[in-house]
Parts: sequence; C-alpha cells; structure tokens
Amino acid sequence: MLPGRLITYTAPRRYANLSSGSGPKNTHHKYTREEIPRIGPLFDKVCSVHGERHPELFQLRATFQGLAQELTTHMMKEEMGLFPYMERMEESVIQKEPLLPPPFGTVRNPVGMMEHEHDSTGEALRALRASSNGYLAPPDACVSYQTLYKTSTEFEADLHQHIHLENNMLFPRAIALENAH
Ligand SMILES: [Fe+2]
Ligand SMILES: [Fe+2]
Repeated sequence: MLPGRLITYTAPRRYANLSSGSGPKNTHHKYTREEIPRIGPLFDKVCSVHGERHPELFQLRATFQGLAQELTTHMMKEEMGLFPYMERMEESVIQKEPLLPPPFGTVRNPVGMMEHEHDSTGEALRALRASSNGYLAPPDACVSYQTLYKTSTEFEADLHQHIHLENNMLFPRAIALENAH
C-alpha cells in the first residue's frame, strides 16, 4: 500500500497524543504494568502448591518473568523515545510545520526495533500457551491455578491487541508521515 493511502490528515487527532487517556500509554501499558505484579505472585503461589505434580509450571513462570522484564523495558523505550517523537510529528502536521529531524536517523529505526521486540513477545506468548495446554487448567487445579490461567489468557489477549495497534496502525502512520514530509 502506498504510504499516502494509509493516512488522512483530518483523522489523526486521536493519535496526536499517545500519552493521552486513550493512547497506548494509558490503556495497554497501564494494564500491563498493573497485571505483571498480580500474575507474578500468583505464579509463585501456584508453583509452590502444584509445582511437584505439574513441573511445567516452573518453566511457565520463568517464561513469564522473562516476558515481564522484556515488556517493562520495551514500554519504557516507547514512552521515552519513540512515542514523544511521534507526538511531535503529529503536532508538526497539525501546525503545518516541517518535521523535526529525528534523533535516530529515521523513524524506521526505532519502529524496526520495537517490531523486533514485539516478535519476541509473540514468541513468549506462544511458548506460554503451548506449555499451559492452551491455558487449560488440569482437573486438580485450585482456584488460584484457575485464576492464574484465566488472568494469563486476558493478559495474552491484551498484548495481542496492543501489538496490533502499534504494528499495524501507529507505526505505519509514523512511517507514512515521515515519507510524506
Ligand atoms: Fe506499547
Ligand atoms: Fe510495543
């Protein structure tokens, strides 16, 4: 698709402030930051009670911890670097001013890095789903075990939406704006 067809200059105001109430920072990032400290202790509890009979729980916990660490750094990079630049791009377009030169050469550089990290998140999500039998709790699962899997399913769904929004809407728009100016 041609870059110019991805965007219209009358529609973007909802993306103009990525830190606004409806932007990813206050929706998906906030949710992820709230859920990580909720799911982590649940894993600890379920591992200590069921780990002996379900040793895959230890691997699941390790994968989740790695993912949580990755996401924490990833979201910080977006909020400190790429998003503020994208907001400035949107403002420049609204003000009909030229874009400020990106501090990272081209916006494609951080976008490519973020997409690469999204791929890694996708791999972790697939590994979690595979090791948990599609988040199907075994018959002997206690309420905490069931809650862990239910919460993990929701966490997974939100991450898919989060990555879809960035990969398929926000990032292509940033590249299109850069190409058009
Ligand atoms: Fe994000
Ligand atoms: Fe991201």
